[in-house]
Amino acid sequence: MEFWNETPEITANPSLCIGLVTILLIFYIQQRWKYRRIHQFMKTLQGPPCIPYIGNAYFALQINDRNLCNVLKRQIEKFPNGGYWVKNMPWFVTGDLKVINALLSSSQNIDKSYIYSYFKEHAAGIICANGEDWRLIRKTVNPSFHASVLKSFGSTYRHHTKTFIEKVEKFADDEMMADLFVPLHLCTMDFICESMMGCRMNIQKRDLTFLSTNLERSTEMIHTRLFNVLLQPDLIYYLLGKKQEINNCVKGMHALAKEIVELQTRRRDDARQSKSETEMVPVFMENLLKAIESGIIPKERAVDETVDMIIAGSVTTATTAAWMLTIFAQRPDIQGKAYKEIMETCGDREITLEDTSKFNYLEMVLKETLRHFCIPFISRTITEDLVVDENMTIPAEVNVILSLFVLHHNAENWEKPNEFYPENFSPMNELKRPKGAFLPFLTGPRHCPGSKYAFSSIKFLVANALLRYEFSSDEKMDDLPNASYRMIFMLWPLSGFRAKIKKRS
Ligand code: HEM
Repeated sequence: MEFWNETPEITANPSLCIGLVTILLIFYIQQRWKYRRIHQFMKTLQGPPCIPYIGNAYFALQINDRNLCNVLKRQIEKFPNGGYWVKNMPWFVTGDLKVINALLSSSQNIDKSYIYSYFKEHAAGIICANGEDWRLIRKTVNPSFHASVLKSFGSTYRHHTKTFIEKVEKFADDEMMADLFVPLHLCTMDFICESMMGCRMNIQKRDLTFLSTNLERSTEMIHTRLFNVLLQPDLIYYLLGKKQEINNCVKGMHALAKEIVELQTRRRDDARQSKSETEMVPVFMENLLKAIESGIIPKERAVDETVDMIIAGSVTTATTAAWMLTIFAQRPDIQGKAYKEIMETCGDREITLEDTSKFNYLEMVLKETLRHFCIPFISRTITEDLVVDENMTIPAEVNVILSLFVLHHNAENWEKPNEFYPENFSPMNELKRPKGAFLPFLTGPRHCPGSKYAFSSIKFLVANALLRYEFSSDEKMDDLPNASYRMIFMLWPLSGFRAKIKKRS
């Protein structure tokens, strides 16, 4: 027989096989024992069938940039307290008020789950920091949002809002619908750079549109990756060319933040050398540079924290303002009431920052906008057992996805949960609702520090836009709960924030 026709004799060594199987069995039993409380907890949750080794990771096959939010929404409808196994990790997905409030109020469970680490593609700052690292940076950031500091931002908002009003004039009296997001976002970036960092970057005047469109693209890509396990391994992401695409998208924002940090560091150094009074640097930048000088935060973090603050503060406020103007365009009744309130408060004079606290109806529209189009999901990893009530303790190491979207549409707490109905926030209706039913800025130690900043800047910008322009639309508002959305931190309409703009006489 030729040697290539010979079939090698495979002789299994029985004792080797038995040894291998025993080791695997011991490992399996050890793991099941170690994680027995997690397995017990997961058994109490509802959920779709698990495939051995894969768990529920097959969900990734359904998800893409445009349907992400709807797939997750459908799952929560089917399994309100859902348990999922992905990559051997337990996930608890819920929109339950009790669980959300217990977890967010816990001072121990402040860590974000590992999926946030993909936001490091933008910057490794406060948004994805955990543990002691987070506590240090949060302490540095908090004083930037004191009421006395926020009060001083009026002239900054006025200056950049004026530019916004001039910029959108080119769309006015055009029969075509304009997309409002980019002009609003360039304006809110101008707000943040000057109010928080002390730099007038003139993003609107320099038409730095790419900063906004690139951020839109990279954020959408990151959101898809968070929920699609197939895109999570770095090598696959790199080979698909997505890593390079994100790097290209974030380059401009990093350059902007670097310019701001260098400018402010130089100003401080110059002031010290000439022994002159340091120019007034806003609290955020001042505290950040001080924390770096005293070694509390590493130097290279200055750019990351600046990027995170620009992103966290500008995309959310621009998205909310864009939704409000789109809704005004589609609902002339709501627009009319808001306009009347502004006219009654200010007449023909300029709107001041103090006026914004008197715009009660506008605030109801703002809150209703945040109820529908909030950041729909947030996630945490339980680091210490969390007692929700006598029937539920979530063991450490479980990852939790909390759906603010589901919380905000719970029929038990809202008069018209699925309609755009600003009266949900009338003083009377606000009193009737249980604590924690409306949490667009979360609650507890990791709540959004910028909520008051958001309210005053959005009301200022939208009220000024409404005073100068009337908004209309050929489109009708979607059937809200069933509409499809894009997810770019918050929910976005698939067709964009579109409206016709007419100058008021
Ligand atoms: C409508 C506007 C806004 C909404 C809906 C909003 C919502 C949120 C939410 C839900 C979080 C928590 C995210 C999570 O834990 O996964 C958050 C965090 C944060 N927000 Fe906001 N935000 C808004 C405006 C702002 C503004 C204007 C600023 C700054 C000027 C800001 C700065 C931050 C920062 C720094 C964090 C991280 C906090 C931490 O992890 O300790 N936000 N925001």
